[in-house]
Amino acid sequence: MKRILLIAAVLAATSGLAFSGSADSVKSIDLPVVKTNLADAPGKDKAEKFCSLCHSPDYITMQPKFSRAQWTGTVNKMIKAFGAPIQEEDAKVIVDYLSTAYGNGK
Ligand code: HEC
Repeated sequence: MKRILLIAAVLAATSGLAFSGSADSVKSIDLPVVKTNLADAPGKDKAEKFCSLCHSPDYITMQPKFSRAQWTGTVNKMIKAFGAPIQEEDAKVIVDYLSTAYGNGK
């Protein structure tokens, strides 16, 4: 049974390749909208969009309340160490959001 599935997968993959030369074979898929339980505050949309690319946004809600400096450090780490594709203006909005919704007021 496993072998038949494998052959089917290989056939599907190679027939897909055979079509890839033609322009009307371009396919698109709609990614599901990820529902999160992030708190409502301005900037939530950007945090949902960018902070659930690599891991669950629960990583945010699992943290203790952070200061703005700590959230800035976390967001910078995601960008610099892990390669999160977040532009500076978006990063600012996200830090504002995190400091408001998950901050300790410092
Ligand atoms: C490019 C991938 C990527 C993106 C995008 C990303 N992260 Fe992460 N994040 C990671 C990795 C990798 C870890 C470490 C995972 C682990 O240790 O299991 C991590 C861990 C974390 C942690 C756990 C504590 C820590 O500091 O390690 C927090 C909090 C966090 N991310 C928040 C965020 C926030 C907020 C955003 C949006 C600004 C974000 N992440 C976007 C890759 C990413």
